[in-house]
Amino acid sequence: MSRMDNLRQEKILILDFGGQYKQLIGRRVREEHVFCEIKPCTTSLETIKAGQYAGLILTGGPDSVYKEDALQADEGILSLGLPILGICYGAQWIAYHTGGTVDKAGVPEYGKTVTHFAVDSPLFHSMPADSVVWMSHGDQILALGDGFASIAHSDHCPVAAFGHADRAIYGMQFHPEVEHTEYGRELLHNFLYEICHVRGEWTMNAFVDATVAHLKETLAGKKALCAFSGGVDSSVAALLVHKAIGQNLTCVFVDHGMLRKDEADTVERVFKHEFGLNLIRVDASERFLKLLEGVTDPEQKRKIIGEQFIRVFEEEAAKIGAVDVLVQGTIYPDVIESGVGGAVIKSHHNVGGLPKNVRFDSLVEPLRDLFKDEVRAVGTELGIAEDLVWRQPFPGPGLAVRILGEITRERIRIVQDADAIWREEIKNAGLHRSIGQYFAVLTNLATVGVMGDHRTYDYVLGLRAVTTNDFMTAEWARVPYDVLDRASNRIVNEVDGVSRVVYDITGKPPATIEWE
Ligand code: XMP
Repeated sequence: MSRMDNLRQEKILILDFGGQYKQLIGRRVREEHVFCEIKPCTTSLETIKAGQYAGLILTGGPDSVYKEDALQADEGILSLGLPILGICYGAQWIAYHTGGTVDKAGVPEYGKTVTHFAVDSPLFHSMPADSVVWMSHGDQILALGDGFASIAHSDHCPVAAFGHADRAIYGMQFHPEVEHTEYGRELLHNFLYEICHVRGEWTMNAFVDATVAHLKETLAGKKALCAFSGGVDSSVAALLVHKAIGQNLTCVFVDHGMLRKDEADTVERVFKHEFGLNLIRVDASERFLKLLEGVTDPEQKRKIIGEQFIRVFEEEAAKIGAVDVLVQGTIYPDVIESGVGGAVIKSHHNVGGLPKNVRFDSLVEPLRDLFKDEVRAVGTELGIAEDLVWRQPFPGPGLAVRILGEITRERIRIVQDADAIWREEIKNAGLHRSIGQYFAVLTNLATVGVMGDHRTYDYVLGLRAVTTNDFMTAEWARVPYDVLDRASNRIVNEVDGVSRVVYDITGKPPATIEWE
């Protein structure tokens, strides 16, 4: 067995019943140093058995278990002898399929709820008898099957948690994975360590060692090529491969001219000169801008940039000749199958898919198992500076989708300068870690302003900042007025071409994060 397999040997399976928090549960388990996988609840019993999991977690979901078309897992999972933890719908599903009763709650519970715990259960090891949990349920467990006992209750919920100690099967009506549950981390820790008896060997340090050793073995004597965007994922993936095969990895960095201010230079300096990557920067901005001349439709912009990106990459690859492997920065959220519907939701966001005219034998995706925060931790482990490793996500088409209307060098300059000020102010206010994404948008609307004694007629610039867990939904960030004030003042004074600044106070849905 390779060191890589070894590291993943101890793992938890999260069965997804369509709950919005599945990725958060996954991250929490990983934070406890245990590898986990997320699969649809319909995964076959054979697959689950073959996975040799240390335990199962059943997620919440929007259904009612007693409905005819409710999402189901194979009941056989309850007899595998594996520890199981059901959360919300997952708990109701267990209760229902072990002889209990579930029905509409007399009083549905939503939000923070004081709950009382039977602290002699191993699930509540080292926890106080009373604490606040996050409830979100309209159904309720009314009775439990043989051998199951209620081990927590709240004012309106007699079975807030239950367990069958001999079978190591537990359920909880509330959500331990969300921050609002005071002892949520302890609960998950207890399930993993007190009930599944894991050792907790999944650390980013171990991941780097095992991955580099594995890549050294599998890529010995091979030539690799990487489409390097300079973003966190592709740079961490490239650095891991670089650590394994050094100069046999060539990175092609296509600069389309619509990156954030100074970003292309920083990326080149850091990765080529400081880390020593064999990096080719291709300044293709002229070519991209020419093709985008007069184009105002966002989808058209995306299409042109996506296709052109691949063309430029292919041309560079042709100069290098055939390679054995192509390195990609795919991360786990890109590959998780959804339990309901099965679609990978982010596909339209990928810049341009795989190049068709580059010859390679196989694909290497060293980050395929990692969540974004784990990728950042690996980046830090590899020595990438905090500022770079904590950069927010940036769309493949870049500033093209943040410039409404036509893209010109002048308009790129305006949005770059305003964006740089906005980012600086957010950082100075210490908000850069808590806000998921924040950027400037240049509108194609001009309004009248007054500077000194002069009338101006310049663009309206939009500022956007959102908090989000998964970028599928988002709230507009409550940035303090004084931060908005400073940013607005600076932008109007320092950036030529802007006469007015507005702040976007729309959530997603109904708006999207980007304006185009
Ligand atoms: P939306 O605007 O769809 O954005 O709410 C959700 C997340 O996806 C990013 N995004 C893109 N990323 N190519 C990308 O690589 C795209 O065309 C694209 N459009 C949006 C956006 O920045 C946010 O993080």
